[in-house]
Amino acid sequence: VSPQDLAGTRVLVTLGPTREFFDPVRFWSNPSSGTMGASLAVAAWLRGAEVTAVCGPVSLWLPPAIHRISVTTAKEMFEAASDIWPSADIGIFSAAVADFSPKSYGATKFKKDSGGLQVEFTANPDILGTLAASKRTNQRIIGFAAETGDLASLAREKRERKNMDMIVANNVLTPGAGFAASTNEVTVIDSNGREETWPTLPKTEVAWRLLDWLSLL
Ligand code: C5P
Repeated sequence: VSPQDLAGTRVLVTLGPTREFFDPVRFWSNPSSGTMGASLAVAAWLRGAEVTAVCGPVSLWLPPAIHRISVTTAKEMFEAASDIWPSADIGIFSAAVADFSPKSYGATKFKKDSGGLQVEFTANPDILGTLAASKRTNQRIIGFAAETGDLASLAREKRERKNMDMIVANNVLTPGAGFAASTNEVTVIDSNGREETWPTLPKTEVAWRLLDWLSLL
């Protein structure tokens, strides 16, 4: 029997990429597979939580007992997550949200014979940032940071600025970490000042260890 340390808690997980359309058939996105978020959703469910996963476009299986809400754009993900967040105890924001979306797009396909393509982008809502601002004292937030530079110092700053209880940072340029890999190499920092870099591990194990850390906060 798995530990039931999350029995009676409600967990919101955002996972996967978002898509921002230029025209009816083309979009701006990223290679997120949703694997890290799905591993967390399953781990939380195994440990007794009631889990809602707000999923960008991903092709992965989740146990039917996990409540699944499928969305496409960042705006849709923001609306779905905002609905769930007030009744959640834990928010795990693992989605690779597209930071920008095209300002406007036509109802018809861009014609490639029109020369180049110019698209003006506007910033998307910061889902974690917005919901963390209304965090109650009994709510906990795990956020992620995909970085390419000085991981620990960027993550320390981001954890505080975005009101996270725990941040999980990985260098997306490291082989075997981040986007679309089944493994991840992460640096974890929490609000008690605990900080560790773990070896490359299966995302399922990273998820389990993150929930172990969370239980100490
Ligand atoms: O993009 P950034 O490094 O600021 O992402 C940090 C955290 O914020 C991640 O957990 C990500 O899922 C979340 N985020 C979000 N909405 C955005 C951008 C990021 O929820 N628009």
